[in-house]
Formats: sequence, structure tokens, C-alpha cells
Amino acid sequence: MSMERDTVLHSWCVQAEWDAPTIVGGEGAYFFDAAGQRYLDMSSLAECMNLGHQHPRVVRAIQEQAQKLCFVTNAWGAEPRATLAQLLLEKSGFEGGRVFFTLGGADANEHAVKFARLASGKGQGQVITRERSYHGASFATMALSGDSRTATQVKPAQFGVLRVSAPYAYRCPYGTASETECGEAAVRHIERTVESVGAGAVAGVLMETNAGTNGIVAPPNYWPLLRGLTERHGIYLIADEVMSGFGRCGEWFAWQRYGDAGRPDLMTLAKGLTGAHAPLGAVVVSAAIAARLDKQMLYTGLTYCGHPLSCAAGVAAVRAYEDESLIERSRVLGQQLFEQARELQSRHAVIGDVRGGDGLFVVVELVRDRATREPLSPWASTHPALRALVAKALTHGVSFACRGNLLILAPPLVIEEQALTDAVHLLDRLLANGVWS
Ligand SMILES: Cc1ncc(COP(=O)(O)O)c(C=O)c1O
Repeated sequence: MSMERDTVLHSWCVQAEWDAPTIVGGEGAYFFDAAGQRYLDMSSLAECMNLGHQHPRVVRAIQEQAQKLCFVTNAWGAEPRATLAQLLLEKSGFEGGRVFFTLGGADANEHAVKFARLASGKGQGQVITRERSYHGASFATMALSGDSRTATQVKPAQFGVLRVSAPYAYRCPYGTASETECGEAAVRHIERTVESVGAGAVAGVLMETNAGTNGIVAPPNYWPLLRGLTERHGIYLIADEVMSGFGRCGEWFAWQRYGDAGRPDLMTLAKGLTGAHAPLGAVVVSAAIAARLDKQMLYTGLTYCGHPLSCAAGVAAVRAYEDESLIERSRVLGQQLFEQARELQSRHAVIGDVRGGDGLFVVVELVRDRATREPLSPWASTHPALRALVAKALTHGVSFACRGNLLILAPPLVIEEQALTDAVHLLDRLLANGVWS
């Protein structure tokens, strides 16, 4: 452990504070450290291990692919690449569309923007994104993200990014009184933004469909209204499904909750695509966009795009979601988790809001004062009591994730019902013992 601390630069943390156990294995919703301690994973690590740890079918698929062929570039065909593209087009109903494979979520979003610009013929057209969004940590995706944590590292305007307010109903930036009104006001604001620069200058609108790193769960009317608006103005809608895809929101892809009325022009995937068993991202584009790109030279791509080992993992992952009915399972358990979290809210004043629950993604927002909704800590810093809660839970063998004043409950979709209930009971006890003032 200390050798790693002394040799590796770790992401998203203060180096001097990094002091984590070494993980040596996992099974289902649990992972294990070198000392033999078992942890129930209540966040799917980075909301990515939707299939749980070491899913046997995915592990086997990687092993079998490694025996046959580890790598060829995109200049050559690769069987698992073609199979996975076909499966993704089927699951999304993007008939006649195409799939571009990437290494993860950030480069999927960058490529989606490139394709929207190329296919729209709008040159380096603007891209509209929202506050409190997260699309990655490369330079372009930091610019696309409305994330105060990385805001000082880039200038969004240099990347052609226009920022709008978030549909954050609990703290509605438009001062509305209901979720529905907040959703409407947020989309009206986007329409005004489009009108102010002219639709011809806007290549795309990029938004997280439902679940995201920064804990926004948009009101139910937001996405279909946004789809309608972008269609009226001839602007491509890009759905960032990196976190919300593969069952996290109770569907293969969160926009499918609205059927065709929610269908984007492009969508980006990663995380659950292989259940994090291998690094992979993807951009799925509509038939119309595929046709526009067909005769154009694509001066883009990274060496490992569509790596056969990762694509084999993706094929096995998609089949596992399907054969184990994990999308439906997430829908049922997500509702149960949401109700349990709401019940905690009725007894713990520190819980200001509970949202999500379409699948196994529930955000618990902590406040100092329910009446004023003052956050427990400013965004991007974590209150000592919340840190203490997470540390205490680890001693009980449960790993919770917190971000700022949010607890994000997003366990693997394979979690046993009893384990989920036990984790909520533990949370109940720890909330009762917390010193929240
Ligand atoms: C919604 C969303 N988009 C994009 C990303 C970036 O994905 P990656 O870390 O694979 O680059 C994330 C990662 O958390 C995400 O949650």
C-alpha cells in the first residue's frame, strides 16, 4: 500500500491524503482487499461496475479473445467490434446508424462533438452544455462540463461552448415552485440562448440524460422538451449516457423512458458498456448522421479505439444484461432503494432531497438546514461528518461514495435485495450518530 502511495499519482484526490487498501479481487456486488476485508460496493466504484465485480462471462470473453487476437487497428476488421456495434444499434433502435468506438467517456464526448460539427456542416459551431454537468476531464470535456472543480483549467469559449443553467429542481435557478416548471424554464432558457446566437451557429446540445456525476436528476419533462426544441431549430441533440446507460436508470439508455420522443441524434457510452471490465467508450450516431459522414474523411481516432479485448468484453456485457434481466432488475430495486431513502429523509433532518430511483441511481442531498436548503458543505468540499460516515461504513464492510454534499447510491445491478436493505439500515444508524452541525 505505501509503495503505491509513494509511486503513483492518483486522480481526483490530494496526493498526501491518499491512503487506500489494495484491492485484490471481487465477486458480484463485493470487492476484497489484501487483508481479506470484504466491501459491499454501494457505488459500483465510479458508477461503472453495473455487472458487479469479475463477472464470469465477461472475464471469460476477455480470456477467449486474448487467446485469439489481442489487437488490430481500425484499418482492419475485428469480429467483436462488428458484433458489438450491431448489438448497440439493436438495443438503441438506431437502425441504419453507426458506432464509433473510443477508450472511455471523455473521448466519446469529444468525438460526438466532432461528428455533430462535421455532419451539421456548421464548421466549428457552438455546443450548448449546462452548469453542474460532467462530461470528462480531458481539456475539451472540462470545457464542455459545467463543473466548478475543473473550471479554472480551461476557457469554455475557446472550445465553442455556451453554458446554460441546470434543471436543478431542488435549487431551481429560475426560482420556480415545481419540478415541471423548473424543467420548462430550463428549456425556455436554452431556446433563448439558441435564438441569441442563431440556430445556424449551434452544432449541438450536449446533456446528461438523467444521471450524472454532479447529482442532477432532470425533471421528467426536461428531456422530451429539449428534444422538441432541438428538432424545431435543426440542432443535433447529444445524449451523454456514459453514466445513465446500461440499466442505471432502468432502461438500456435513459432517453428510452420517453420512447422515440426522447431519441437523440447521437449518444455517448462508456462505463456500463463493459461493466468496467475493460476500458471502452462509444458514440452511436443516427442513420441520418451516418449518411452525412459516409463520404467525409474522418481525421480522428486514437490507436486503441475499438480494441478487440474491450469489444469482446462489451459483447459479453450486453448479453449478460440481457440474459440476467438486469435492466428490469435495476428498475425494481431502484424504486425500492428510492423509497427506502425517502423513508430515511422523513427521520433525518440532514437529508434535504432524495432524487432518482428510475433505476439503481439515487442521490441523497445533505443540508445544514431543511428550511433554507443551505448545503451541508459547499459543492466540491465534503463535510467532516460525511467523511466520517463513509469511513465508519468501511469498518462495517460497506463502501459508500460521497461527492460534495451528496451521497450517491448506485450499487451494481446484481446486488442482492437483502444486502441493499442492510446497507440502507447501516446508513440509517450512521446518519443518526453523525454530528451534522
Ligand atoms: C456523464 C459522464 N460523462 C462522461 C464521463 C467521463 O467518462 P471517462 O471517465 O470514462 O472519461 C463521466 C465519468 O464519470 C460521466 O459520468
